[in-house]
Amino acid sequence: MSFTNGTKSNAESVQAPLSLNSKPTFLMCPPRLYDVDYVINPWMAGNVHRSSRELASQQWDNLYHALSHVANVLLVQPQAGSPDMVFTANAGLVNHGIAILSSFYYPERQGEEPHFQRWFEEAGLRVQHVPRETPFEGEGDALFEADGSRLWAGHGVRTLASSHRYLEAAWGVDVLPLLLVDPRFYHLDTCFAPLQGGHVLYFPEAFDAESQARIEAHYPAEKRIVVSEADAVHFACNAVNVGRTILLNEISRELAARLQQCGFEVVQIQLGEFMKAGGAAKCLVLRLSDLDVTHASGECLKNGAVKTAA
Ligand code: ARG
Repeated sequence: MSFTNGTKSNAESVQAPLSLNSKPTFLMCPPRLYDVDYVINPWMAGNVHRSSRELASQQWDNLYHALSHVANVLLVQPQAGSPDMVFTANAGLVNHGIAILSSFYYPERQGEEPHFQRWFEEAGLRVQHVPRETPFEGEGDALFEADGSRLWAGHGVRTLASSHRYLEAAWGVDVLPLLLVDPRFYHLDTCFAPLQGGHVLYFPEAFDAESQARIEAHYPAEKRIVVSEADAVHFACNAVNVGRTILLNEISRELAARLQQCGFEVVQIQLGEFMKAGGAAKCLVLRLSDLDVTHASGECLKNGAVKTAA
């Protein structure tokens, strides 16, 4: 799979395949046109036109540079009229060369769809659609287990459960639904993050009882990293995990220590300007390459080291 890099491309001039080395590849969108222009989640209320583009740029650059240390980062150019395009996690869901394009719930974001579609096509990905009647908001609401064995799919706020069958059909993977019940955690990636080594970082109260039980049935207690409400509202679960590195907004000392104990290197980046629109680290990136399963079977040891299966 390689980039066609046509002259009319809105992709950066990139000629590399999506996995050109052992590092995973992500998509980001520079915040040149970022703003809080409307209110489609509780975080945006009271923040319309209250974000600083200059500070947002600095924060985004910090995330971009930190991610570039552990991954390849490609860019899609922002488009006028789509201020939320910086949140590339909502462009779609990508795996094995297929991109399922998002079908946004709110008309405010539906204008992003053709731009992301064009980018995916120019990147050589096979684009699949879900109908407008079954909203699906991409990786914001669908997260693969680190070893690719299952796909956790949020629903109830933006994404409709009826869209999940398109995910199942595309990859033949088991889709496990998780019902979101707190409007502050309106996308799955705001309250749930499957991590390397079979861990999960999550805020249980964001889910109904059945979904909480489903999570508990899949992750043994010692693999569950439960986040407090105080950390959850700082987007602690909105974490990007590459190998042993975790990039996220600022979190409590206790949570950082717990993650380190499990063998993770924690990189905290202030992303307050994006929280005004209801997003942080994970919302700002979309994984393009196949899953990194290198550390997927690591065990969390008492001394904080991660044992990786040969
Ligand atoms: N303002 C955006 C929205 O409400 C924020 C999206 C955050 N993205 C995410 N993957 N959680 O759609």
